[in-house]
Formats: sequence, structure tokens, C-alpha cells
Amino acid sequence: MNAPAPADRPDPHVMQTYGRLPIALSHGRGCWVWDTDGKKYLDGLGGIAVNTLGHAHPELVPALQDQIGKLIHSSNYYQVPLQEKLAAKLTELSGLTNVFFCSTGLEANEAALKIARKYGHDKGVERPEIIVYEKAFHGRSIATLSATGNPKVQAGFGPLVEGFVRVPLNDVAAIEAAAGSHLNVVAVFLEVIQGEGGIHPASTGYLQAVRRICDERGWLLMLDEVQCGMGRTGKWFAHQWAGIQPDVMPLAKGLGSGVPVGAVVCGPKAATVLGPGNHGTTFGGNPLAMRAGVETLRIMEEQGLLENAAKVGAALKAGLAKELADVAGVVEIRGQGLMLGIELARPCGELLGRAARAGLLLSVTADRVIRLVPPLIVTSDEAQQIVDILCPLIKSFLAETPVKSA
Ligand SMILES: Cc1ncc(COP(=O)(O)O)c(C=O)c1O
Repeated sequence: MNAPAPADRPDPHVMQTYGRLPIALSHGRGCWVWDTDGKKYLDGLGGIAVNTLGHAHPELVPALQDQIGKLIHSSNYYQVPLQEKLAAKLTELSGLTNVFFCSTGLEANEAALKIARKYGHDKGVERPEIIVYEKAFHGRSIATLSATGNPKVQAGFGPLVEGFVRVPLNDVAAIEAAAGSHLNVVAVFLEVIQGEGGIHPASTGYLQAVRRICDERGWLLMLDEVQCGMGRTGKWFAHQWAGIQPDVMPLAKGLGSGVPVGAVVCGPKAATVLGPGNHGTTFGGNPLAMRAGVETLRIMEEQGLLENAAKVGAALKAGLAKELADVAGVVEIRGQGLMLGIELARPCGELLGRAARAGLLLSVTADRVIRLVPPLIVTSDEAQQIVDILCPLIKSFLAETPVKSA
């Protein structure tokens, strides 16, 4: 059992499930936030790929105020016209057909897993199995942590949910082999760019091969775009770079620009699998959440934020690559658009605090990958400032304990 939290910490009544920095943010504007002591930070994290429009966006704020003044929550007992509006937009942008709304990423994934199982049962598969991936992250409910490919996330929560077959990413032979030995497979479930696992993209060829295999075998292709979707890579959805369509696509994070919104967008093979009574959630699709989604998409379109993500993301990646070229201990810079990871040769969690002290918010994932997922409104000048703050920190960090060459 973990020791009780010390009484002298600032939040003695909050359950200690996070390792937090001693910083409390009070307000923000654009890509900048301020803490309660007045210190200013450049936001390279965007609330972990959530604050699509940055902070206090001048068009989002009045729209949300308007909605709060009218109706925050009703109930799914009644029609919610804003659900139809957001669903119509998401289906238009994805080419899929129907949407179920919830509030978080794990909820969207939980719904996807239920769709896959029911799809299997409807076909007469009594014990359906789903192919999932090493290093995947799908959430922390019992089912989604079972689908997750990280033993640290799973430790202490067994018995895990059964019915998952795990394969390595970007290995077509492995999925073919799994298909040969697991005759109850009904779906493949993967992130187009693995986020928490360390910014590992599925290759275009791999995504196309998995789509083909799913078509040949009558499986559902389920793409978790909770982190990499919503314009972050420069297209609405990351899989669109590969010219394919999924059957099921969970979304969340950036969809509501900070207001909790989750969605499962489905194509014809999956859209009618769940019927009345099969699934539901109290908060899902409430008017405030839907207004946040509708306005986020509208502002993204009007302000060309996909183009901005592609352009500024490419400049940011190039800037990092130039500054960190030939730096011993920098293993690789990966990702696309405004979803970038810099892998170092050793664990670098302490860079989180050092970057914050230098006025930059970021995250470190998979122990040794610095992750940048700033708001999609970030400018080229701000991207350069990220490079200017971060690269010297990385260099001095690596210089402290030189990494032995292999
Ligand atoms: C790809 C992916 N799926 C699911 C989740 C879980 O989302 P949430 O934390 O909203 O439950 C995350 C969160 O980081 C994620 O990155």
C-alpha cells in the first residue's frame, strides 16, 4: 500500500493519483498561461493536446457564455439539436455516418470496444477478440487499461479484461500471424500515432495493409484518434494522410477545446451495432459540450488551423532537428504536425520541472520522450521560442551525464 500523503502538501484532500509540479495556473490567453504567482509560460502542452484554440479564445468564450446562459445540461431522454449539428459536421469531415457522444477518451474507447464485441456476437462469435498493440494507450478504465500495452498502467489492477491479442506496431506479418492463430478476432484497435507510448506513428503502408486485412476478414478497423485527431497532424484526422477510412473512430481531447467532449464516429459497418438500451452516459452530448465542439470546429475551419498545424508543426520539427543535430543522447525526433516527440537516450522526467522554470510547459512520456502538443493556434514565432527555450535545456541535461555511445 502507498504511504498516506504528507499533511503539509497544498492539496491534502485531493487523492494523490498524479505527480504534480508545484505550480498552479490561474489564467491564460492564446498560447500563454500565467500561474498564481504571476509567472508566464509558453504552453507547449495545451492541456495534453486538449486546448485546440489555446486559452480564452475571443470567439469561443462568448459562445460558451451564451450557451451557459441558455442550457448547460438537459438529458438524453430528450432530443439535443446541438448533438445532431456536431454529428453532421464530424461525419462530413470524416466521411463516416453516425456518432455517439460521451465525455472523455476512455469512454469513447470503451464504447468502441463494446461495439467490437457486439459486432462479433451479432456475427455468431461467442468469445470475440480484438487485436491491440504494444506501447498502446487507450485509457484507464478496466477494459481500456487491458487494451493498453503498458505494464505500468496495468500493474495492480488484475484480473484484466480478456479478449485482446497483442501485436507490435508496423509489423504486417505479426497481424497476419495473429489472424491465423486467433479465429475469433473481430476488430483491430490502434492509435494512428501512439501518444502516451512515446509518439510512434503507424506508417502509411501499415495502415493501408491493416485496412485491407480488415476488409478481407470482415473485421472492424477501429482507430483511436483521441490524441492525434482533431486537426493536430494537419488533417482533420491523422488516418486521412494514409487515404483510408476506419469503421470506428474514438475522439476526445481537442474536440471541445477544453470542455470535456468525447465521440465515437462510425461508418456503415459499425453504426447500427448498438441499439436502444445497449449504451449510454448521463453527461454525453450535453448542450454545453456540443456547443464547445460545434464552435471549435467552426473556428478551426474559419481560421485555417489545419494549415497552421501542418505549417508551424513542420517548422517546429525542423527547428528542433537543426538545433539538436549531432547532439549525443538525442535518439530521434518523431511525429507530425503539432504532435511531436523528442526521444532521448535516458529518462528525462526532470525536464518537465526544468522547462517550467524556464517558462515552457511540455510533457515527458514513456520515460524518455519529450512531447510537444501545443494549441493549434501556435504561431511560427512561438514555435521558435519553444525551440529557443527547450534545446539548450536538452543539451545541458544530456551534458550532465554524457550518454556512452553504443
Ligand atoms: C490515444 C488515447 N486514447 C485514450 C486516452 C484516454 O483519454 P481520457 O484521458 O480522456 O480518458 C488518451 C489519453 O491520453 C489517449 O492519448
